[in-house]
Amino acid sequence: MSTTVETTARPTAQPLAALDIKRIRKDFPLLQLERDGKPLVYLDNAATTQKPQAVIDAIERYYTTQNSNVHRGLHYLSEVATGAYEDARKKIKRFLGAPLACEVIFTRGATEGINLVAQSYGREHAGEGDEIIISGMEHHSNIVPWQILCEQTGAKLRVIPITDEGELELAAFEKLLNDRTRLVAVVHVSNALGTVNPIRQIIKLAHDAGVPVLIDGAQSAPHLPINVAELGCDFFVCSGHKMVGPTGIGVLCGRAALLDAMPPYQSGGDMILSVSFEKTVYNSLPYKFEAGTPNIAGAIGLGAAVDYLSRIGMDRIAAYEHDLLVYGAEVLESIDGVRIIGTAKEKASVLSFWMDSAHPHDIGQILDGEGIAIRAGHHCAQPVMQRFDIPATARASLAFYNTKEELDALGAGILKVKEVFE
Ligand SMILES: Cc1ncc(COP(=O)(O)O)c(C=O)c1O
Repeated sequence: MSTTVETTARPTAQPLAALDIKRIRKDFPLLQLERDGKPLVYLDNAATTQKPQAVIDAIERYYTTQNSNVHRGLHYLSEVATGAYEDARKKIKRFLGAPLACEVIFTRGATEGINLVAQSYGREHAGEGDEIIISGMEHHSNIVPWQILCEQTGAKLRVIPITDEGELELAAFEKLLNDRTRLVAVVHVSNALGTVNPIRQIIKLAHDAGVPVLIDGAQSAPHLPINVAELGCDFFVCSGHKMVGPTGIGVLCGRAALLDAMPPYQSGGDMILSVSFEKTVYNSLPYKFEAGTPNIAGAIGLGAAVDYLSRIGMDRIAAYEHDLLVYGAEVLESIDGVRIIGTAKEKASVLSFWMDSAHPHDIGQILDGEGIAIRAGHHCAQPVMQRFDIPATARASLAFYNTKEELDALGAGILKVKEVFE
């Protein structure tokens, strides 16, 4: 497995300083928990990550000293809350490398960001016989919104196939692109396989054909340095809770020119400049897409989360997690009867595996008894399971606070599974 850092990292002249994981782990109250006297081994980070004290503090600070509605009142607290909310937007702009703060739209998560683009951009641009391209390794969040759009408009969904290793077939993608293609929507890092897709190449091929690209960054923003301006994508979505931030908050980052031309997704307060019964004039970006009272505490918490990640450094996080992933793959491969699903050259965070002797749910249950939290199931990516002809996988997914010792514990837990089922 070659380093995943190459995919999106800016070149670093200096070797990266090692992370002090012991110190980092102390920042996460939940990682101090024990289960029946055993230390908790949390390997379900693709589902959601744990939260550092800095994020918890930022949310508590908001509710105890700043709570007020934003963009509405002239009073002191409203100004403070609005300032904190807009500061969070600027932090995320910097974290994702967006050229303008108004290109950062707060959403409930990656899912809402994709639905927004499908129902706003998609409804404007897709019609009968047009085509939307996704890939065979999408999360349901990046499948169903496009299926609904296709039902509404008569457009067709086209799917980039995946190889036995779990990589996208780029030659097939090139053939799928044609003058009826209206949008390409692909996942950056697969939550089911861990594959890091060659999105620069995908974006270039699509742009050469005049087609805009949405990147589902739900599993890449927590693990790789992202710079949307350098990547050149048109839309990028991610979820706060997968990047040490709170639940219920995420981001859609889009090109201002495209967002400006798009109709609102939801309507109500805050997204308007003026309303009369005859005519409503919509607000400017980003507010046009933030109808109603937003998740103020969530946005502020996400701002604290990206500050926390930036202090450690996404280059260092990517490099550390890459080593951990290579080590975890070796642990799994050393156990007879364990098959890793998804062996792409470029991977991040995810170790999905299958055992002929035990169903993933049984694996998950036995590991849980050892204090090890993994995920078992289809991971909201049923077409991936169909492609590999299995009903489910067991999935260990890593974050920068995990350790090699925890992966050894995973290996020991799997040996217990074998004892029970073989
Ligand atoms: C690749 C991918 N895309 C989208 C999502 C949806 O994220 P959320 O449920 O936070 O909106 C997930 C969640 O697991 C994911 O892994």
